[in-house]
Amino acid sequence: MNLENILFSQGFGSRRECRALITQGRVTLAGIACLNPAHEVELSDAFTFGVDGRVWPCRERVYVLLNKPAGYECSREPQHHLSVLSLLPPQFATRGVQCVGRLDQDTTGLLLFSDDGQFIHALTSPKRKVPKVYLARTRHPLDATQLDALRTGVLLHGEAKPVAALAAQARSEHLLELTVQEGKYHQVKRMVAAAGNRVEALHREQIGQLTLPATLAEGAWQWLDAADLERLAQRSPAAAPGHDLA
Ligand code: URA
Repeated sequence: MNLENILFSQGFGSRRECRALITQGRVTLAGIACLNPAHEVELSDAFTFGVDGRVWPCRERVYVLLNKPAGYECSREPQHHLSVLSLLPPQFATRGVQCVGRLDQDTTGLLLFSDDGQFIHALTSPKRKVPKVYLARTRHPLDATQLDALRTGVLLHGEAKPVAALAAQARSEHLLELTVQEGKYHQVKRMVAAAGNRVEALHREQIGQLTLPATLAEGAWQWLDAADLERLAQRSPAAAPGHDLA
């Protein structure tokens, strides 16, 4: 593939913009400016290129995770806050990268993004039952009655059937670890309210078998590697049919 097409495929603008980046000397191969848009490149997994001093891999699809801070909306057209997409390199939005599910603007933690529709569907379809682990700081002390209600099922306003957590445990008096698999609107906050408490702060720690890396700063993102994708593809024992929800 030639260099102009590589930049175009990676979301660095229109063909004309990609050509201009190259002829202006802003694109490097192995650290050396390449001024020829037609330069042919042998693509391999190890191939990287530089744009304005930053090195990028060439990826057929984007799979990344973000440590979402509070105050960002999971929308391309946010209403009251900045979009989470503003925390990612602009070429990702050009490529059509989307959030994999949504977090409320005030929820923090693990958020995935991709431009692979099948991947997004596999993680968000209610039929796939992918478990998500949340940490909720609660206004009132947690007690056994609330935890039992969350495990056996609480009726949410507008829902026909009770929704049960896959797991609910108190990490401390005011810190609830809740595992849910549905992804309904404001699900954790509504479940905790229905159990007689209130969420003061919410953080997502895990999706499937993938945990938010402890070393990733709030607001920072990273590529998912092969092991991360494998963790997301693994079917959790908790989500398998016939699992006892109690
Ligand atoms: N449940 C909620 O209530 N909010 C979120 O952001 C995610 C799950």
